[in-house]
Amino acid sequence: MSKKKILITGGAGFIGGNFVQYMVEKYPQYDIYNLDLLTYAGDLTKHQDIEKKGNYHFVKLDIADREAIMELFEKEKFDFVTHFAAESHVDRSITEPEIFVRTNVLGTQVLLDAAKRIGVKKFVHVSTDEVYGELDFDPKTFFTEETPLEPNSPYSASKASSDLLVRAYHETFGLPVNITRCSNNYGPYHFPEKLIPLTISRVLNDQTVPVYGNGKNIRDWLHVLDHCKAIDLVMHDGVNGEVYNIGGHNERTNLEVVRTIISTLEKSEVLIEFVNDRLGHDKRYAIDPTKLEKLGWKPEFNFETGIAQTIQWYLDNKEWWEQIISGEYKGYFEKQYTMK
Ligand code: NAD
Ligand code: TYD
Repeated sequence: MSKKKILITGGAGFIGGNFVQYMVEKYPQYDIYNLDLLTYAGDLTKHQDIEKKGNYHFVKLDIADREAIMELFEKEKFDFVTHFAAESHVDRSITEPEIFVRTNVLGTQVLLDAAKRIGVKKFVHVSTDEVYGELDFDPKTFFTEETPLEPNSPYSASKASSDLLVRAYHETFGLPVNITRCSNNYGPYHFPEKLIPLTISRVLNDQTVPVYGNGKNIRDWLHVLDHCKAIDLVMHDGVNGEVYNIGGHNERTNLEVVRTIISTLEKSEVLIEFVNDRLGHDKRYAIDPTKLEKLGWKPEFNFETGIAQTIQWYLDNKEWWEQIISGEYKGYFEKQYTMK
């Protein structure tokens, strides 16, 4: 097999970081480039074990820095791009929407231009099921690839905008693209601003867990390693121009998720604190993954095995998340939750 150069944007974050490690280990014959700006959500300590490997490279860059991105693409002539870099937290998009437009929309467009200029073999745009908006509580309804885009938060609106640009670069310029839309991920290195790692870290410290509204909103949870395998498959075998939904039928209410974590850690439910609801809080997400399954994907984890593995990982890797929650994150948490 010929040596290929793979660019992974956002590879210092949660999902991109897991994908970088998965790819470096699985494909020693590929050169893996991790491009990341190292915002509050990115850190390289997670890559200590792979840093010495000859097929791993790191580039610190802003995806919206047109000149620098063009220069890098001209120099390295990447074969594949898998694009994870984004502002990813809905709550932050409610208080600071502008950076979401800059990074998620403009940044994606810059990458598309660069990919077009050098003629990449594939551009995989990692998007989210949140672009479809929300479902009601009827358990027979699911998001399919044909569901209209109806994003409700500034985050999902910025992701939907980037999806449309990716689609347009395929239709107009013939750029070989795929768009993937995944449900909520969880697993190792999940930043503790999101529900699952926030709950685990706070419960372990005997702190209250803020549950928005009545806790009955539903998310469809997928272990991050199953997401990584899906991206790998789409990058190699996805039909150009196609969208693939990724999800494993693991719907849970937020309250069920929090209760599972509390009981696994043998703590008390008095830690649950109902707080004011998120503005525009989407009721329910649920994915129909039939199209991806036909391409050959099957998840390894269900919610029970995945959450057990994840809780154990947070118990074994306290240093990683304690360092985060004692830093600038403290200020974010106080600001975010005193408003509630
Ligand atoms: P994350 O916030 O953990 O990581 C984002 C990474 O992007 C960070 O390392 C950050 O430093 C980097 N980044 C941000 N702005 C940048 C810029 N201007 N230039 C270069 N790098 C920049 O996010 P995540 O949860 O790993 O999500 C990754 C992708 O997957 C996102 O595109 C997100 O929309 C999508 N997604 C996430 C989920 C989920 O449940 N977390 C589900 C579906 C899709
Ligand atoms: P989150 O992890 O932020 O992911 P997303 O908003 O992309 O789905 O939130 C998951 C669910 O948990 C969502 O319904 C909002 C809820 N939630 C809380 O109840 N409390 C919290 O402190 C957070 C961060 C989220």
